Amino acid sequence: MKIVVIGGTGLIGAKTVPLLRQRGHEVVAASPKSGINSITGEGLKEAMAGAQVVIDLANSPSFEDKAVLEFFETSGRNLLAAEAAAGTRHHVALSIVGIDRSDNGYFRAKVAQEKLIKASSIPYTIIRATQFLEFLGTIADSSADGTIVRLPPGLFQPIAADDVAAIVADVALAAPRSGIVEIAGPERAPFNEIVARYLKAVGDPRKVVRDPEARYWGGWVEEHSLVPLGEARRGRIGLDEWLRRSRAGT
Ligand SMILES: NC(=O)c1ccc[n+]([C@@H]2O[C@H](COP(=O)([O-])OP(=O)(O)OC[C@H]3O[C@@H](n4cnc5c(N)ncnc54)[C@H](OP(=O)(O)O)[C@@H]3O)[C@@H](O)[C@H]2O)c1
Repeated sequence: MKIVVIGGTGLIGAKTVPLLRQRGHEVVAASPKSGINSITGEGLKEAMAGAQVVIDLANSPSFEDKAVLEFFETSGRNLLAAEAAAGTRHHVALSIVGIDRSDNGYFRAKVAQEKLIKASSIPYTIIRATQFLEFLGTIADSSADGTIVRLPPGLFQPIAADDVAAIVADVALAAPRSGIVEIAGPERAPFNEIVARYLKAVGDPRKVVRDPEARYWGGWVEEHSLVPLGEARRGRIGLDEWLRRSRAGT
C-alpha cells in the first residue's frame, strides 16, 4: 500500500520509512527538501494521491510558543484537508504523553494538533510517546544554569527513537483506533536521576540538582505528569542499552 510519511527525514521519520519499505510498502518520505511542505501546501496533493495511510512525524523548526502553535495548527489543517480530498483511510500522528497534564507552549501546540485530528473525518490513531532518549542532552541544556542542571523529581520514562519508529510502523499498518495509544520506555525513575545517569555516562561534568520547583520547558511537573497513567506499550531499549548502541554507532 502507499504510505506518506510527513517529516520522513526527521529523527523518527528516517527510522520509520525503511521499516515500512522492508515490509513491501510504497513509502513517500516527505519533507520541505523533497518539495512536500505541510505549511505552504506545496506538493501535498500529488503526494497524497492514492495513499491509504499518512503518518505525521513533522516537527516545528522553532519551539517558541507562538511559532510552534502556528506550525502544528497550520500543518495539521493542511494535511487533514489534503487527506480528506484524497480519501486517506488512516491518519497516524506522534504526540506526547501528558500534554494535557503539564503546561508549556510546546505541549499546548500538541494539544491543538490532536484536537484537529479528533475533529476531522479521517479515521486516526494518535500515538503519545514519552520523551525520546535522544532528547536527554537537549533537556539537560534547557535546564542548565552554568554547571548546574535543575530538574524536578517527577517520574520520567524515556523511550529510544528505534522503539518509537518500530511502534509507529506497526500502528500505521494496523486498523485505525480512532483513539490514543500510549508508549513509553522500559525504565521509570525520577527525572533528575535519569538525566544525572545520562550526563555521567557521556562524561558531562555538570551536576544535576533535584529541585521540586524546577520547571520543564516552563511548565510544572508533578509526580505523574510525564508518564502514562494507564496501560502503555513499552519499548525494549533502556538507557544503558541505548548508550551502548550510541557508542557502537548502531
Ligand atoms: N522529542 C521528543 O521527546 C518527543 C516525544 C514525543 C513525541 N514527539 C513528536 O515526535 C514528532 C517527530 O519528532 P522528531 O524529533 O522526529 O522531529 P525532527 O527530527 O525535528 O524532524 C522533523 C521533520 O519534520 C520535517 N518538517 C519540518 N517542517 C516541515 C514542513 N513544513 N512540512 C513537512 N515536513 C516538515 C523536517 O523536514 P526537514 O528535514 O526537511 O527539515 C523533518 O523531517 C514531533 O511531532 C514531536 O512533537 C517528540
